[in-house]
Amino acid sequence: MPAWLKDAIFYEIYPQSFQDTNADGIGDIPGIIRRLDYIRELGCNALWLNPCFASPFLDAGYDVADYYTVAPRYGTNEDLKNLFAEAHKRGMHVLLDLVPGHTAAEHPWFRESCKAEKNPYTDRYVWTDDVWRIPEGMNTIRGFSERDGACVVNFFSHQPALNYGFLNPAESWQQSMDAPGPQATLAEMKNVMAFWLSMGCDGFRVDMAGSLVKNDPEQEGTIALWRQVFAWLEKAFPEAAMVSEWGEPDRSLRAGFHMDFLLHFGPSHYNDLFRCDNAFFAGNGDASAFVKAYEATRAKAEQGLICIPSGNHDMQRLTTHLPEDGVRIAFAFLLSMPGAPFLYYGDEIGMRYLWNLPSKEGGYSRTGARTPMQWDRTANAGFSAAAPEKLYLPMDPAEDRPTVEAQMADPDSLYQEVRHLIEVRRANPALGNLGKLRFVYAPENACPLVYLREGEGERVLVILNPSEKTVTFPWTEGLGKRIYGQGGAASVENGTVTVPAKSASFYRV
Ligand code: GLC
Ligand code: CA
Repeated sequence: MPAWLKDAIFYEIYPQSFQDTNADGIGDIPGIIRRLDYIRELGCNALWLNPCFASPFLDAGYDVADYYTVAPRYGTNEDLKNLFAEAHKRGMHVLLDLVPGHTAAEHPWFRESCKAEKNPYTDRYVWTDDVWRIPEGMNTIRGFSERDGACVVNFFSHQPALNYGFLNPAESWQQSMDAPGPQATLAEMKNVMAFWLSMGCDGFRVDMAGSLVKNDPEQEGTIALWRQVFAWLEKAFPEAAMVSEWGEPDRSLRAGFHMDFLLHFGPSHYNDLFRCDNAFFAGNGDASAFVKAYEATRAKAEQGLICIPSGNHDMQRLTTHLPEDGVRIAFAFLLSMPGAPFLYYGDEIGMRYLWNLPSKEGGYSRTGARTPMQWDRTANAGFSAAAPEKLYLPMDPAEDRPTVEAQMADPDSLYQEVRHLIEVRRANPALGNLGKLRFVYAPENACPLVYLREGEGERVLVILNPSEKTVTFPWTEGLGKRIYGQGGAASVENGTVTVPAKSASFYRV
């Protein structure tokens, strides 16, 4: 694992919505550079940028039309190189988003692949050999090409699947992973990675990383493929960090990834905590299923980081299902768990999910979590000097919408809480990315949630009670200094700790 991940705290930027510098209403790379000091001051020292490559933007850039060129609306390759350099000057690292599974339908490779006559791109995508043959369990598009066949798509129907082969080819049109077509696809993806890494990029968040090889229900083929990639990467770019959008760390970390996310899909019960009707951090939900799933995963995934994001561009905002104090206790959790924390832009000031926005760039229900960053009280909250109707998405119209400016000036703001939590994490090695974790108390449908962090000879007990009730748990060892507190302090007597309602505490033990 690259050494810099030991204390990496990530900030995810949806580039469209972060900072516009040329008044076209769309965020851009110079805007990210302008805000690097803000991110650093918050305490984050690493970035993940959603895809910023040439694209028709039918899926916000997850439909790449040219892997080697920055989308003109964000700037140039030179601007991105500059971002890497400016980040490095500040001791920060930058991950780009790699979309290896599919391209835009307008990618030149796909245009070639659609032709009837054989060419170097014929096998770049997954095609059946007869337009009437529709494979079971896969989505296809067909009837639009000279080529006779149905083409497999991965996500939306404008995202044709790149060909990495089939685990066990069963029909003549299915190629094995080591056939020339799939091998050429993989070689090209390595070229893409090498291109950006050589320019100063520090690694990638990998989109849909678990779904490259087809007919691979246990993902063993995809795992084997990534292991090959990592064997190369570790030699060629040993400092490159890789985080997968997989959601099953026991598989992804075995595949060689340094980090994986727990996500709103997959077996992790992540949503139980933050995003459901009875979310745990809202005060009356259940964390025990999450804890069980986490422990089961950890037992199978010994190395690498399990990362719990505050949110991302695909889910509702952290504030959607939680009251303000719940959001704060959720941050106390997110910033005291092992793994590298990932903060979604704007979550640090409690930006809101906007309901019922018209879909933008394939966002649909995700659109409301992608609105422009709210910096200050000037026009468009400082996001852009464009006319309001020209903005990528409308700003949160609420009078009391949170802004960075107001929250930096207010010692009691969410921003200050998050910043302080990051400081506490950095000052206490037990709380760090690589520190150990043991759950102490995680009752079904009840509070508190209690766990012990341990590292570099130090131990910290984390006690979280988002409920409205005073609660207790058994603990015979006593409590030392309270190194972080929200709400009232806990007290210990006769082997029982009493925890006030709506509180979060970290104690040395
Ligand atoms: C991932 C991305 C999502 C995108 C999809 C298809 O889930 O996070 O935004 O739409 O993959 O690439
Ligand atoms: Ca712009």
